Amino acid sequence: MFEHLKVLPQDPILQLMQSFRDDPRPDKVDLGVGVYRDATGNTPIMGAVHKAARRLLEHEKTKSYVGPAGSPGFNSAVTELLLGGDNPLSRDNRVSTIQTPGGCGALRMAAEFIKLCKPDAAVWVSTPTWANHMPLLGGAGLRIQSYPYLNSETLEVDFDDMMAALEMARKGDVVLLHGCCHNPSGADLTASQWAGITDLILRKELLPFVDMAYQGLGDGLEEDAQGLRHLAQAAPEMLVAASCSKNFGLYRERTGALMLISGNAKSQKAANSQLLSIIRAHYSMPPAHGAGLVETILQDDELRREWQAELSGMRDRIQQLRHAFSRELASSGDFDFIARQKGMFSFIGISEKQVNYLRAHHGIYLLESSRINIAGLSDKTLPRVAAAIREAVASA
Ligand code: LMR
Repeated sequence: MFEHLKVLPQDPILQLMQSFRDDPRPDKVDLGVGVYRDATGNTPIMGAVHKAARRLLEHEKTKSYVGPAGSPGFNSAVTELLLGGDNPLSRDNRVSTIQTPGGCGALRMAAEFIKLCKPDAAVWVSTPTWANHMPLLGGAGLRIQSYPYLNSETLEVDFDDMMAALEMARKGDVVLLHGCCHNPSGADLTASQWAGITDLILRKELLPFVDMAYQGLGDGLEEDAQGLRHLAQAAPEMLVAASCSKNFGLYRERTGALMLISGNAKSQKAANSQLLSIIRAHYSMPPAHGAGLVETILQDDELRREWQAELSGMRDRIQQLRHAFSRELASSGDFDFIARQKGMFSFIGISEKQVNYLRAHHGIYLLESSRINIAGLSDKTLPRVAAAIREAVASA
């Protein structure tokens, strides 16, 4: 039965991660996979996470099942992070949040839920978008449509083209938006663009779906949620996939959440029950450990303060690197957009050949699209990386 199967190429991000690991050069630089790195190149366990882990170990009394929705404490803490405390949607019982195995679990369960509600709905995704959006959403059998997002010359948001394309969406289609820190471009929507897209979604009766994978790494926890909150207040129904991989540094713990907003409490109850049934049929229940850590941190004032301070430190470091890198590249062209953009990623706008040159000659790893993980730079490597880019542009 398996004999006719062909070997598939690996996902490009995971493939790059492996190639970097296999490279013996001691001065190699990983600007590929989206993980935060400190000045020494390590992806640290946050101090608040360490403390929460110790507490969990001491106080945990059972490993019995929790249930398909995961931990209620985690779910309400994440709802508050996304929507703010004391929000009208929670008060009106129009919102429920379900713990999922990472943001990927949330995206896929949302796709299965959309398929159940409206099998012929198209999901509109930005061009470019995170490579794994296609298999996660398309794998559930949904039709994918794309809307232009980035101007390839300026590497800034092409809002007029985006809006024009979304005018073609049909009632009931789904619009996937990146909540902040757009992956792969780092180019985010402004407040007035969020308002414009909200109006279009309401007028055309589309379903907004926000992927919030980097809350806190752009402008701040509250600031990064403003677009999502504006949309959530206005739209009758909405889906949000959230990840704790980056802002809690919990990557391998697979900790995420799917938030569902319905028009009223009655339909919320029905929708939530359908979603739980989908989850039961896919993986039954989410893993507990990462969510336990997040819940412990968010429910304890001191740990929460410590986590927020550490997150601010990560964000500030990324911002400083963005400014330093755009200054360092200034002699080769206009790279000011790198300083303006948000989160871990930006394109540097070089060709695939030049990307391969960087890898072959300097052990510098970035995606073929020229997406770099800014957090993979450091004060030590930054001048070398900038010099190598200049060399690659001149010679490849
Ligand atoms: C990335 O975009 O590099 C990260 O989100 C990691 C991943 O799973 O692709």
